Amino acid sequence: MTCAPDSPAGPSDASSPYGPAPSPGARPTRPVRVHHLTRAKERGERLTMLTAYDAVTARILDEAGTDMLLVGDSIGNVMLGHDTTLPVELDEMVVATRSVARATARALVVADLPFGTYEAGPAQALASAVRLMKVGANAVKLEGGRPRVQTVRLLGEAGIPVVGHLGFTPQSVNRLGGFRVQGRGELAAEALVADAVALAEAGAVAIVLEMVPEPVAARVTATVPVPTIGIGAGARCDGQVLVWTDMAGMTQWAPRFARRFGQVGQALRQAAQAYGEAVREGSFPTSEHSFDS
Ligand code: KIV
Repeated sequence: MTCAPDSPAGPSDASSPYGPAPSPGARPTRPVRVHHLTRAKERGERLTMLTAYDAVTARILDEAGTDMLLVGDSIGNVMLGHDTTLPVELDEMVVATRSVARATARALVVADLPFGTYEAGPAQALASAVRLMKVGANAVKLEGGRPRVQTVRLLGEAGIPVVGHLGFTPQSVNRLGGFRVQGRGELAAEALVADAVALAEAGAVAIVLEMVPEPVAARVTATVPVPTIGIGAGARCDGQVLVWTDMAGMTQWAPRFARRFGQVGQALRQAAQAYGEAVREGSFPTSEHSFDS
């Protein structure tokens, strides 16, 4: 990752707290850092986050000016063919995080701690998080609220920024009884706010809110000083995150809260069909793709 000096009084602060989003094709030099997240919230500037699992995609999403790339444990469902995130191994996250970090110049790289690598307590979480930080993560994300406070604090003391994740937490899908909206009803909403406050007080740098009613997400957003990043949590969070394959239209199905901003799956299918036809009919390769002796 290219790291230009980051002066709070630098010239690009006039337009943005973390430097301008790069124009297409340009390689940005000023990376997004954790302190920019709170600054963006204070300035009312919305943050963008997309998942990324490999270098080729990360480079494109980074060049597009995405503020944060999340190496999500959704890699389990999206890339590895599992039904849930539960089978994802730390070793798999290490490979994906290394690949994403190598291809990223501007975005803040956040890597998920997968199921079973942090719940035993702060020491286990630290050992797991260190592995992700060593291969280029700028922060780690973990699921859960008040029970994670000590872990968030210890990681912070070790120099590891933590992003929290509340609402529907996919690693608890069995306890939650399926993919269900969380935080409905006053008691549940109050618990969610208390979890968010506890995470922020422990030092979390941002909080993902997944599948939460919009008014509850708005309440959390108004209460905590750190940015909330919504997914299926309405329009009143400080930022948004989507799984990149949902965002780009890679698959037939996408969750109700996702919007397809492209039809990349269809474009890829068409490109592969055109390639196949060209090879079969002999129009590819031609002399322009061949070497002389
Ligand atoms: O793993 C992931 O992709 C996530 C997002 C859904 C926030 O945690």
